[in-house]
Amino acid sequence: MAMSVKLYGSGAQEAWQKGVLFACRQNLARHLMETQANEMMPTRFAEIIEKNLKSANSKTEVHIRPRSWIEEQAMGSFLSVAKGSDEPPVFLEIHYKGSPSANKPPLVFVGKGITFDSGGISIKASANMDLMRADMGGAATICSGIVSAAKLNLPINITGLAPLCENMPSSKVNKLGDVVRARNGKTIQVDNTDAEGSLILADALCYVHTFNPKIILNATTLTGALDIALGSGATGVFTNLSWLWNKLFEASIETGDRVWRMPLFKHYTRQIVDCQLADVNNVGKYRCVGACTAAAFLREFVTHPKWAHLDTAGMMTSKDEVPYLQKGMTGRPTRTLIDFLLRFSQDSA
Ligand code: BES
Ligand code: ZN
Ligand code: ZN
Repeated sequence: MAMSVKLYGSGAQEAWQKGVLFACRQNLARHLMETQANEMMPTRFAEIIEKNLKSANSKTEVHIRPRSWIEEQAMGSFLSVAKGSDEPPVFLEIHYKGSPSANKPPLVFVGKGITFDSGGISIKASANMDLMRADMGGAATICSGIVSAAKLNLPINITGLAPLCENMPSSKVNKLGDVVRARNGKTIQVDNTDAEGSLILADALCYVHTFNPKIILNATTLTGALDIALGSGATGVFTNLSWLWNKLFEASIETGDRVWRMPLFKHYTRQIVDCQLADVNNVGKYRCVGACTAAAFLREFVTHPKWAHLDTAGMMTSKDEVPYLQKGMTGRPTRTLIDFLLRFSQDSA
């Protein structure tokens, strides 16, 4: 139903338009996350993003990379998760080239795109497993953020990368103790197939470096431990770059979709690199601090100095503690990502 609203002054009109844009893009992420896993498969997800991005701005490029491309790229870690399902994986690569200079280093966003996380051989309990259809929340929010930047015609270059696949149990999938090789040659011992997000992101983070990025930011529903630590109160941000943390924090104060800083200490890396069969283990040695050891694992695949990892597991679903959200998938923190992009583009101008 069309709504008629009387607004006074151009500032109010502008603020209203901004609010509508932010809300629409959060709704796009909510839709992608909420839709059942037998409909929102990797290919469908990629097609929806392609349609939204292409209609937002002509300065865009979309590559829906198939399994053969992923194989050529030697993304053995991503493939080891994807091979457990008959559903074809996709590596989604999107570009928005809003900067007057096409070669300006882009901001690169990366998102976890597990369209259903059963846990694999380390299978999850059935209760609430249906929620794991939203385990592509990282991919949904970063792609929605880039669609917004394209809609706003922001004068910056942004690249979005999302490894998309299902995490299923089958005779082809990783067994515990298997060793897989990531794109950069590092070997990974898979001691828990439910820590699949780390496996697919390892390869995406290696690939990021080919774009000469200005900044790398990944969003992912990575760990139950982050949910236990912060719940739906805030996204956990792991970064050593205070400038980047401050920008994200300021954006989150504006939108109300909050972030909270978490440690990226080398202390946690020891739990990951102390590994019997490979360079790194996909889970920490002890059961504690799962969110921090997962961040330490990702860090092993990042050589770029400007990187932030956002763990959004706690805010994937809405219980009843966020008054403006209905029960279900939240599409968070899309609005904070958009606000961050606005601030970043003002700074780069
Ligand atoms: N997708 C889950 C994390 C998650 C949990 C997201 C709850 C949203 C809500 C992730 O793949 C996972 O299962 N992680 C394991 C890691 C563990 C095996 C080291 C976890 O957190 O239990
Ligand atoms: Zn997962
Ligand atoms: Zn999992």
